[in-house]
Formats: sequence, C-alpha cells, structure tokens
Amino acid sequence: MRPCFHYHGYRSGTANRAVLRKACHVKVPITMHLHTRFMKTLSAALLCLPGCNIAQAQIDLAAQEATARTITGQFTATLLPTLQSALAEGGPAGAIEVCAARAPAIAAELSANSGWFVRRVSLKPRNASSAVADPWEQEVLQNFDERQAAGEPGPTLFASAVVDGEYRFMQALPVLPLCLSCHGQNISEDVLAALAEHYPADLATGYSEGQIRGAISLRLP
Ligand code: HEC
Repeated sequence: MRPCFHYHGYRSGTANRAVLRKACHVKVPITMHLHTRFMKTLSAALLCLPGCNIAQAQIDLAAQEATARTITGQFTATLLPTLQSALAEGGPAGAIEVCAARAPAIAAELSANSGWFVRRVSLKPRNASSAVADPWEQEVLQNFDERQAAGEPGPTLFASAVVDGEYRFMQALPVLPLCLSCHGQNISEDVLAALAEHYPADLATGYSEGQIRGAISLRLP
C-alpha cells in the first residue's frame, strides 16, 4: 500500500471516499464512518500498519470539517439577526451601511478568534476588494450553482478539500426572500443609489430566491 496525504476534490458524502480511493490507489472501506468512537479506536489499532495514515488523515479532515461548520454557523448566526434588525430599523437603503461595516467585521472577528481565514466570496461580487473568488472557490461556486439548479437545497451545499497543503471549506449561501431587496431583480431606486455610492462595480443583483448568492469560504493555513 502506498501512503497518501493528498486529498483532492469535493467532500460530500460518498463522493469523497471515491475521490480519496482514486487519489491514493488503495482501498478504503466504504463503510467507514468518520464521526464515531469506533473509528478512533480502529485508527489507533491501525497505527502499527502501513497505510494507517490514510485513516488518521480522514479523522483529521473530519475534525477540521466539524470546526469549519461551527465557524460558518457562527457567521450566519451573527450576521442574519444583525441584517434583520437593520432592515427593520432603516429599511434596505439604511441597512446597506450596516452590511458594509458589520459583514467584514464579523469575518475579521471570526478569523481572529479561530485562526482560520474567513471571508465571503461570490461569482458576482459586490465587494470587489474582498469577495472575488480564487480559482478553487470559482470551481466550487460553479458546482454549487449546478447542484442548486439540479434541485439540491442551497443550505445543504458545502465543499472541502486540501488545496496546496491548506484545508479549505466552503458553505453555500442561498438567496432568501429577505435578501431580494438588495440582491434581487426589482431593487428600489434609493437602494440602487446607496449601492452605487458604496460599490460602483457591484455585480450582485438580479438573483431569484433559492439561487446561490455566494459562500462563506474558510482556509486553515
Ligand atoms: C440591506 C441590503 C442587503 C441585504 C438585505 C442582503 N445583503 Fe448581501 N450584501 C450587501 C452588501 C452591502 C454587501 C457587501 C458587504 C461588504 O462590503 O462586505 C453584501 C455582500 C454579500 C455577500 C458577500 C459577497 C459579495 O458579493 O460581496 C454575500 C455572500 C451576500 N451578501 C449574501 C446575502 C444573502 C444570502 C442575503 C440574505 C440572507 C443578503 N446578502 C442580504 C447588502 C445586502
């Protein structure tokens, strides 16, 4: 058996194991469940065998994915109520100020607290300085779009991989009804004016409910 630390492609259910098997040219049992105590015991027992680093690598990836999910959950759980109360207080035009200041601040706070790089990205970015997707993010966002168009619910879409030695994770952000006043097809004049003032190169309009607006993107250096 050839040891393998590489892990390419998307991690979603069984696809991950297929990709891992293909990348490593060794058999990984299909029935492995990553999140169980049994798996940890099994991997400890395997430590004396060649190839066991694959099992350990899978456990590490599962732990990283769990942390990534917690961070993306915290991002949404912090931003969404902030956005909702800003909309209730100042309407969409007023809430743009809040979004412009708070969204990057929440990402920065989460980065500082966790040690991960945290940001939001999109194929049609609004914030041209922070939200332009890199090649891996573009590929994942295109994959999210295809899967959403094929009927998969937006909130369930995520991807993870080790890219150039870095663990990366992305969680899709679908368009909810409350997003439409600033990202939809019929945006009011005052909102358009506020957007033009802050984001002259804005591409983030024209969406319908359910489409993928972008993603929270994490990197663990
Ligand atoms: C009040 C207007 C407003 C509403 C409502 C709103 N957004 Fe935004 N959105 C913005 C602004 C402003 C930015 C740019 C923030 C920045 O500078 O980082 C933004 C940026 C984003 C980004 C980062 C990528 C980019 O294009 O810059 C994502 C992803 C996003 N919004 C998703 C959503 C989703 C999903 C919803 C609904 C849950 C939503 N937004 C609701 C105004 C809004």
